[in-house]
Amino acid sequence: MKTYYITTPIYYVNDIPHIGHAYTTLACDVLARFHRLAGYDVKFLTGTDEHGQKVEKSAIAKGMETQAFTDQVSQSFRELNKKMHFSNDDFIRTTEERHKDGAKALWQKLVDAGEIYLGKYEGWYSVRDEAFYAESEIVDGKAPTGAPVEWMEEPSYFFRLSAWQERLLEFYERNPDFIKPESRRNEIISFVRGGLNDLSVSRTTCKWGVSVPNDEKHVMYVWLDALSNYISALGFPDENYKKYWPADVHVVGKDIIRFHAVYWPAFLMAAGIECPKVIMSHGWWTNAGEKISKSVGNVIDPVALVDEFGLDQARWFLMREVIFGNDGDFSKERMKARINTELANKIGNLVQRTLSFVSKLPTSSLLGAVSKEELQIAELYESDMLKCCVSALDKFKKQMAHQDISGYLDGVMQLVDEANMYIDREAPWVLKKTHPEKMAEVLYILLECIRHIALYLQPVMPDSAAQVLRQLNVTERSFESVGMSGAMQVGAVINEPTAIFPRIG
Ligand code: MSP
Repeated sequence: MKTYYITTPIYYVNDIPHIGHAYTTLACDVLARFHRLAGYDVKFLTGTDEHGQKVEKSAIAKGMETQAFTDQVSQSFRELNKKMHFSNDDFIRTTEERHKDGAKALWQKLVDAGEIYLGKYEGWYSVRDEAFYAESEIVDGKAPTGAPVEWMEEPSYFFRLSAWQERLLEFYERNPDFIKPESRRNEIISFVRGGLNDLSVSRTTCKWGVSVPNDEKHVMYVWLDALSNYISALGFPDENYKKYWPADVHVVGKDIIRFHAVYWPAFLMAAGIECPKVIMSHGWWTNAGEKISKSVGNVIDPVALVDEFGLDQARWFLMREVIFGNDGDFSKERMKARINTELANKIGNLVQRTLSFVSKLPTSSLLGAVSKEELQIAELYESDMLKCCVSALDKFKKQMAHQDISGYLDGVMQLVDEANMYIDREAPWVLKKTHPEKMAEVLYILLECIRHIALYLQPVMPDSAAQVLRQLNVTERSFESVGMSGAMQVGAVINEPTAIFPRIG
């Protein structure tokens, strides 16, 4: 069985989750669910990044002991996962022993390879970004991200990043799909071409971290610690980690692409470990045009959003509203509009009018559509409508292999639009009086279309898709059942339909 390993970034536990976190994990959830349905052995990892000064400071500000604080905030991420029906297979915390063991083993490999040396760091550090900045990067006394910086001078271990410039550039050249989208790839390539400095990879002033093997005065730089979660969660250094490694895709926000596309492959190559296949970077959400920030007070709480609009409605909006990779703007108006136009008027309407029409047929022809002995299923599968439903799967697989969630959902919506046009054109309510046999064929085609649409909607709206499949009495739900192999049989009975996507005011 082919494996598919997908990861979210691990989230800082300095504060409770917001829409940006929910968005990253949701995108991974959609990709993970799709690949499970397509028959892959999927490993979907998420978790929390609990070390470093930023987290330590937040605990102090809350007057809590650091471990107790991280326990509490990490738990709120687990709760979000439950609330959003995320299907992660594991949840890693960097304060767990299994993680610390993996991080230390990676460190040791770097030491053994001669890639780490002891020196002294003198320069700027931003706690908010947990990043070091060169003098040339400082703009008006701040980090290029706008974060405050402080001067730091302390003994530090360094990773020989400068020696990896050419090998990184060759790696990008050989693996054109490694950094996505293209615009980010170009940014990273020009950053690396500009030259790389050795990277400080330990701290002595911050104590909240994984201690450096054989030198307890130092803790590992939080990014080296954090990045190693992707292998520690697989049991690294136990060789079994190779069952899922290299990762198929690390999904990350555009703000942390440099850590994943420069530092991470350099660490891995230096340690003699394979690099992940793809770093997929997505954009940022703003709220009604403004950057989301606590100080502005415009943070969007994903839990409140789900409570107000419904889970699948929220999942749908977040995945549909922006092309995956681009920035997006949130507004309740746009969310309502999308729920009404796409979920209520298009998907809901197609399902509701077809199923309620079928269920109102006299019992003798209940499922007139599928109860007639002479219904030739194979022939109906030659119809344009069903051919489109079946052939869509190959296209979707290709799109999702490239993390093109937007293209995939466009394709599903196209099927919905075609099915709605088909029902209007064929008007089964007219055929009922004039050509009942033709009506049965039209309804059969429509029911099968709806079955396919529901199968394809499962990754993004698992609950609503399951509800539709239950109404159809369909139990086979993997993509194996696409096409005739899973076709509803003559005599199949459907359940009383209930509306899935009500309009909202
Ligand atoms: N702890 C690091 C990641 C370590 S991975 C080895 C981190 N954590 S974070 O909690 O600050 O951010 C996690 C993710 O949330 C990032 O991918 C970031 O891009 C994403 N988002 C945070 N705010 C966001 C928006 N407003 N919009 C979309 N995503 C955003 O970075």
